[in-house]
Amino acid sequence: MQRNTAIAVALGWMLASAAQPVGFAAQDAGLGAPQLQARVESLLARMTLEDKVGQLNQLSVDSLTGPERKVDNGDELIRSGRVGSIINAVTARETNAYQRKAVEGSSLHIPILFGLDVIHGFRTLFPIPLGLSASWDPALVEQTARFAAEEASGQGVRWTFSPMVDMARDPRWGRIAEGAGEDPYLGSAFARAYVRGYQGERLDDPTSVVACAKHFVGYGAAEGGRDYNTTEISERTLRDVYLPPFHAAVDAGAGTVMSAFNAIDGVPASANPFTLTQVLRREWGFLGFVDSDWTAVRELMLHGIADDERTAALRSFSAGVDMDMQTGIFLRNIPELVRSGQVPQGRLDDAVRAILRVKFALGLFDRPYVGESRAPGTAAGRGEALARRAAEESFVLLENRKVRDAPLLPLSASPGRRVALIGPLADSAGDMLGCWSGQAQARDMVTLRSALAERAARERLRLTFAMGTDVAGASDSGFARAIEDARKADVVVLALGESGRSTGEASSRSDLGLPGCQERLLEAVVATGKPVVLIVFSGRPLAIAWASEHVPAILMAWFPGMQAGPALVRTLFGESQPSGRLTVSVPRSVGQVPVYYNHLNTGRPRVDPIGLGADKSDPYFVTGYIDQTSEPLYPFGHGLTYTSFSYSQVRVNPERVSARVIGEGGSSLTVEADVRNTGNREGTETAQLYIRLRGTSVARPVRELKGFERVHLAPGESRHLEFKLGREELAFWNAGMSFAVEPASLYVWVAPDCSTGTPARAEILP
Ligand code: NOJ
Repeated sequence: MQRNTAIAVALGWMLASAAQPVGFAAQDAGLGAPQLQARVESLLARMTLEDKVGQLNQLSVDSLTGPERKVDNGDELIRSGRVGSIINAVTARETNAYQRKAVEGSSLHIPILFGLDVIHGFRTLFPIPLGLSASWDPALVEQTARFAAEEASGQGVRWTFSPMVDMARDPRWGRIAEGAGEDPYLGSAFARAYVRGYQGERLDDPTSVVACAKHFVGYGAAEGGRDYNTTEISERTLRDVYLPPFHAAVDAGAGTVMSAFNAIDGVPASANPFTLTQVLRREWGFLGFVDSDWTAVRELMLHGIADDERTAALRSFSAGVDMDMQTGIFLRNIPELVRSGQVPQGRLDDAVRAILRVKFALGLFDRPYVGESRAPGTAAGRGEALARRAAEESFVLLENRKVRDAPLLPLSASPGRRVALIGPLADSAGDMLGCWSGQAQARDMVTLRSALAERAARERLRLTFAMGTDVAGASDSGFARAIEDARKADVVVLALGESGRSTGEASSRSDLGLPGCQERLLEAVVATGKPVVLIVFSGRPLAIAWASEHVPAILMAWFPGMQAGPALVRTLFGESQPSGRLTVSVPRSVGQVPVYYNHLNTGRPRVDPIGLGADKSDPYFVTGYIDQTSEPLYPFGHGLTYTSFSYSQVRVNPERVSARVIGEGGSSLTVEADVRNTGNREGTETAQLYIRLRGTSVARPVRELKGFERVHLAPGESRHLEFKLGREELAFWNAGMSFAVEPASLYVWVAPDCSTGTPARAEILP
């Protein structure tokens, strides 16, 4: 072994052995229970070295979700206790068959833990996670996660590789679709909600599945948005932005974490003792286990930090990865590494303990099998109602201008009205699935066209449909028919966007426009002069600058899942009011990327949101571009509805408080505001609380989200809101890299998005 490798490995192990939790996770999902520890220890005492290493091995069966051949001798490995976990088995019959081989065939009868990517539903499909996050409704997400857990667990799948809690500031990155957007505070709220939903009240409830917070960590910061790429993240940004949602997931009791593909400052995340051991175990007291992402351990050789498999296994395992996904690299190398003393026996025992803890906590030893009578079919009633509500809450109304004298939406359904439905995504069931659609079937997706046809028949509307073009094709041969339909219509509903498969893993884009010749179709349809409602289906924000100027109504629909059509039709006709808000900034062009709201002010801002620091006399020597503003097309938090709201009486109490009093915990500031529905329809507003700190030891973002609340108000109704700002909200990683509250001027907004409102002020004194 080379000297530098030896030092790094030794360092990794020193950190690991120093890993006495400094505090236990707030809720450990029962992983710390004494009876459970006793069962783990008694089993561990009976295990040979090979039995132990077998638990670190995870194999994929049937379908593959990464670049690797299927393992031929899977059955033999299972029977000899060399497989701790299987991924991609999806039916009760399959999971039971494998389980029988492990439980009845192997000498120690240790059950297998079945894992799967249940990302936004198992069979019943909800909107993609980015769409779900636009609801700003963690309670809703908890319900969708619980529903998915019930369906998956019914087939023996007791582990989901979700939630993906990676922060994403670059919409070129295809995996932005799988997360909750760009904000760590909101991302943390969703992280907790997913974990609570999947894991339920108790992990040993047979309908619970153990959650996996992924990808640890920094994966969303991939250079140029290119998937799997390198990241450069300072420790402060890591702690301020990328780690908090993971911390929230661990605090909520997430039983597993997946290590990421990317290198951070040259150290691959799947061999990173700082993140995997120092932060995760030592600082956060994580008691579960770390699974590598697919072949990530072996990829250490490609990263260039290992020349051979043995060193790759050594570096990853020593840094804190407990289970290897798919390559068998631990199985082949850890026994010898332990025998030779390069991996201490204690490290192996700790990894096995963590894996067994999760298996015992799930009740797998007591109930390894599931009933086979429950078909993995779509759950009727409840699933559909929840999927429709989730889709409705995910829609973000970006524009709704007046056509003649009223906003274009909602549409009136007067008999005889001619509606032209146009676009390649209007009737594409497969695309409604989005990425990671699990066991969902395209045939269960209700498209916009079919739901609109049903509505048209009921209300005697005259509906026409033309695709116009393909999603990504170059042909405009369908334009003429589409334009003809538009000309004859009273209103056009245009369904454009990306294909469901152009987001998710390995699906980064260098262009953020509408693919193919859809932009031309859009312009041609708008040129007819007919009122156009544009519905955008996508897994990322698209740069639709032309549309934002020329199309009166734009609804961001993401990929809405199985109730896409009914949810859209209810929204178009006003039975449901759009209530989604952006959780990512929408760029005007690729050249603006990364564009995110919680950036630093710089010393030469163009506009300072609180009117300070910007030198108004000099518009030239300022940050930004000479050919375009650096403001996004639509800001984080933006979203309209069919009514309007006003905010008043924003105040902070007390206006002077000591940093020490807040920093030592317990004490907090109260922020109050009144929000009123000023329109003549009911509607839901998401009140957003932002702060800014000035005078601190390190520069703080121009705004940071620190609270939010959805409020449903009747016309004319007001609601008094109250938020708390305590240590968690006001502390940050300061110049000495401590998480502390510092004396500062505090600015507080309660506003409908991150770019509006007038701040209230308070002083945080020494
Ligand atoms: C690779 C992906 O990065 C990860 O998110 C997923 O859970 C695994 N493959 C398993 O399919």
